[in-house]
Amino acid sequence: MTVSAETWLPLGPLEDMEDGERREVTLPSGKIILLIRTEGKFHAVCADCPHQDTPLAEGSVDGTILTCPLHFWQWDIRTGEEIGLAELPLEIFELRHENGEWFVRAEK
Ligand code: FES
Repeated sequence: MTVSAETWLPLGPLEDMEDGERREVTLPSGKIILLIRTEGKFHAVCADCPHQDTPLAEGSVDGTILTCPLHFWQWDIRTGEEIGLAELPLEIFELRHENGEWFVRAEK
């Protein structure tokens, strides 16, 4: 039997984030995720570009489209799907809101 190390990790209340704001969070595993609030909704994606590891916090967000600042690959942050020039998908993470706190589904 395979036991998954994936679980729901607490992020705290995120309502202090402004619309359009991005915030990096380091998970216990050492992985860094990028939280993005846009159009009133929260999204969580891998903080590093799948192309050359550029920090995506330095990129731009237009609606649900995230653009890497280095070579301008783009993704839909709802699905991680590539748009335009991008050749690789972006890892996304599921978020859950419960009792005033946000949780991200990721490896411990
Ligand atoms: S490093 Fe992000 S597109 Fe090249």
